[in-house]
Amino acid sequence: MRILVVGGGGREHAIIKKIKENKSVTEIFALPGNGGIAADATCVDIKATDIEGIVKFAAESKVDYAIVAPDDPLVLGCVDALEEEGIPCFGPRACAAIIEGSKAFSKKLMKKYGIPTAEFEVFSRLEDALEYLKTAPIPTVIKADGLALGKGVIICNTREEAVAAVTEMMADGKFGDSGKTVVIEEFLEGPEVSVLSFTDGKCVVPMISSMDHKRAGDGDTGLNTGGMGTIAPNPYYTEEIAERCIREIFLPTVGAMVEEGRTFKGCLYFGLMLTKNGPKVIEYNCRFGDPETQVVLPLLESDLLTVMKAVTEERLSETEVKFAAKSACCVIMASKGYPESYEKGFEITVPEDIADKVYIAGAALKDGKVVTAGGRVLGAVEVADTLRSAVDGAYALVDKISFENAYWRHDIGERALKA
Ligand code: AMP
Ligand code: GLY
Repeated sequence: MRILVVGGGGREHAIIKKIKENKSVTEIFALPGNGGIAADATCVDIKATDIEGIVKFAAESKVDYAIVAPDDPLVLGCVDALEEEGIPCFGPRACAAIIEGSKAFSKKLMKKYGIPTAEFEVFSRLEDALEYLKTAPIPTVIKADGLALGKGVIICNTREEAVAAVTEMMADGKFGDSGKTVVIEEFLEGPEVSVLSFTDGKCVVPMISSMDHKRAGDGDTGLNTGGMGTIAPNPYYTEEIAERCIREIFLPTVGAMVEEGRTFKGCLYFGLMLTKNGPKVIEYNCRFGDPETQVVLPLLESDLLTVMKAVTEERLSETEVKFAAKSACCVIMASKGYPESYEKGFEITVPEDIADKVYIAGAALKDGKVVTAGGRVLGAVEVADTLRSAVDGAYALVDKISFENAYWRHDIGERALKA
């Protein structure tokens, strides 16, 4: 089978390494992939948002199955376009990807179907938002409606901050069209859990839970990032909470999307907060999380391609999805300065014997060498019997990897270990 993977980060590298385990796979194309992924797939320089280019390449290259991993091509209708060309895909169509593409949509969906989430209001006029903020409970959370590279959420501890955030988004165009509409929502507190799930619209199979570490600095300080490390499973996500989430959140969400004529097929990501009033949805993503995927897929014992195809063909209920009773930890090595400005072009050295535990995110090939080319450069992932040994193992890998200006957090998994 000839497989096409749209995307080019650490998540895509993890998907590609797992897909390769299937013996029927003869070729994997990554569009665009990256300098590190090039060791495991044929990288083709077509942007993940170039839908026309992707479809043309897929048709010409006789691709048998496509996996669309990032949010923007999904929201732009990449799956719709590939399916029209007769290529079966893993990933939701645009009408379902809106669950991530518009926070106003997802909040209204949750309200309509009684799915627990933070209280909220949606505004498309600045005056109305400012009027509401005069009496809104503080702290408050301001969210740009559309995609904003994970940066469109601002937690405001004062009314002045909230006014500034709303004004930047709605009047100054900080996030372009994504910020023209804003969601203002209740500030929630509690441990966060990421649960990725497979769903074919008929049934939903949660994967092993995980915990992201979004802030740049140790002790959850500094700016928000795309994620500086993950662990799985998440110790806060007990069996009792898991059961409650399936009943109160996962099944109702999948059912609501069918009811709305927007059947979701693919990986539906539930970003949850475990509040003292029960689990609530913080966000939905229409895709695998990054770097959650880098700890979840190494624990998957079932064949990933088989599960994905079962999702596409709506046979998920007949398919086994089994996870190892182990733990995993991913430590992200980033370029110093990320998530703001940073230098690139430094050679990355990864010893051969640990290469299969390293997922490359931001790298390019230059004169035959793999060099840094992004903020998040790579993830070092260890799987072990206990969380403690997975964390220690991941940091032991980090010690063996080097590139100039490398930066990483030193406390990935520490909070989970104390839980
Ligand atoms: P999101 O991009 O929606 O995942 O939001 C980014 C981060 O902001 C989340 O991981 C939470 O830590 C935080 N956040 C989002 N919404 C809320 C909320 N209503 N209350 C408290 N924190 C939130
Ligand atoms: N790690 C969070 C995300 O993928 O959105």
